[in-house]
Amino acid sequence: MQRSPAVRARGITKSFGDVVLALDGVDLDVASGQVHGLVGPNGAGKTTLLGLLLGLAVADGGSLEILGTPVGRTLAVPDGVAGFVDGPGLYPSLTARQNLSALLSLRGYDSGNAVSVDDALEQVGLTDVADDRIRGFSLGMRQRLGLAAALLTTPRLLVLDEPANGLDPAGKRHVHRVITRLAEDGTAVVLSSHRMDDLAALCSEVTLLSTGRVVFSGPVSKLAAESGELDYRVRTSDRAAAHQVALDTPGLRVVPGRDRAELDADVLVVRGPVPALDELVVRLVHADVAVRELAPVVTPLEAAFLALTGAEETDAGETDAGETGKEGS
Ligand SMILES: Nc1ncnc2c1ncn2[C@@H]1O[C@H](COP(=O)(O)OP(=O)(O)OP(=O)(O)O)[C@@H](O)[C@H]1O
Ligand SMILES: [Mg+2]
Repeated sequence: MQRSPAVRARGITKSFGDVVLALDGVDLDVASGQVHGLVGPNGAGKTTLLGLLLGLAVADGGSLEILGTPVGRTLAVPDGVAGFVDGPGLYPSLTARQNLSALLSLRGYDSGNAVSVDDALEQVGLTDVADDRIRGFSLGMRQRLGLAAALLTTPRLLVLDEPANGLDPAGKRHVHRVITRLAEDGTAVVLSSHRMDDLAALCSEVTLLSTGRVVFSGPVSKLAAESGELDYRVRTSDRAAAHQVALDTPGLRVVPGRDRAELDADVLVVRGPVPALDELVVRLVHADVAVRELAPVVTPLEAAFLALTGAEETDAGETDAGETGKEGS
């Protein structure tokens, strides 16, 4: 039997007041068992969209189906949806364990729940602080407790706003493991993140929002391919010679990098497709210039993000004076 998608949104709009159009015709498809990342600059509309999925707000227009059920104009979503935006709502004067137990009794769950409080705490790595009041919890510990709270309900759709925010490496490993395990069991997960490495590690699909519009939606690998030509740092034994060789290499441009703090005297920044870069290396070797390092300035995912959201640095499009006509691409 074909299961209905966890989320099917079409043409969603949402405004705040007369001025802010936070979501502007957004489509979103999330299948069961998929980890779907929302990414975009500050104010792009990620939290607003996640809030709609959690029933914290209602869309102004468009249609939204969650777990096969149409969501109307009321603040309600079907059972099976869990998660939080803007940090989990918790009782500061209670311990971690008491918070989770309180939540279970509020929701009317009995002790026969699939995931026990201890189990949930263990899964997010909070067993050692289970009996500490959460007033003293750090941001990362609160985030993990929020995830534990969501686990108690054995969700079919889990919605998380920047779940990796404030997590140390061990905390991050716990959260990644929990999300991956849930997805393997068929739970759909929609999360937002500003960390491209997290998105690449966790998500099979991403939706990139920019000022309320979808500018990309699809597999992470396809997003990386959208970056086109990248800037590369080339460290050599002779920068001046390398500069001349780069200028003579078809398809390659030299990007001025003098005022980039991370650059030092040996490094040149070039932009071009991979074959042009290969040609540069061959030419440098023939010119007796040693190549000591060659690496993209930003990752392909970051480059795609910057290009698609129009947030690219202004100096990145410039080229060295006197080399016009070298853009062989
Ligand atoms: N309650 C609100 N009242 C008025 N405007 C709001 C409200 N919530 C969000 N907005 C506006 O809607 C737009 C989208 O905000 P949203 O919080 O969804 O962005 P975001 O992508 O989550 O950003 P960030 O990366 O900073 O978390 C912004 O312009 C924001 O100022
Ligand atoms: Mg947000």
